[in-house]
Amino acid sequence: MSALAWSEELVLQHPQMDATHLKFVELLNAAETALAESEAAGLSAWDALVAHTIGHFDQEDRWMLSTGFAEDNCHTRQHQQVLAIMQEVARLARDHQDFGPLQRIIPELAAWFSMHAQSMDSSLAVHLEVAGFDPVTGACRTPQPEGNAPISGCGSDHCAPDHAPAA
Ligand SMILES: [Fe+2]
Ligand SMILES: [Fe+2]
Repeated sequence: MSALAWSEELVLQHPQMDATHLKFVELLNAAETALAESEAAGLSAWDALVAHTIGHFDQEDRWMLSTGFAEDNCHTRQHQQVLAIMQEVARLARDHQDFGPLQRIIPELAAWFSMHAQSMDSSLAVHLEVAGFDPVTGACRTPQPEGNAPISGCGSDHCAPDHAPAA
């Protein structure tokens, strides 16, 4: 059984986000499979997931900045927390041969991602749709309101900094 199955619940009707999320799920499952084979293979697969996640989070953070979010909005902060944990787990495995945190984080990250996609990312997909945001050009069809304060909350009921997975 894989760490996380792709399902309709994860589909946000946003093609770029959905493609990125599908790849995230594939790489997470690949890391779990590789780790069952050997620690070296598991770490290599984990590194591939971390590299993909840097681009994944950066993409969403850029979209938010382009559509009225504050730089330190709660969604971006959660990305930063999760990425830091993922990188720390890789460091412990690589530098200290401590693979326990890597073993433990995979199911935690699967549960976190499922919740994150269905809350913060889902809210972002709606926000981008309302803004008429084109991820290719970075332009918005809907004029952005002027004079509004930058958005600091994600608009979901998970708008809190303590929803990161524990390693
Ligand atoms: Fe995402
Ligand atoms: Fe996100």
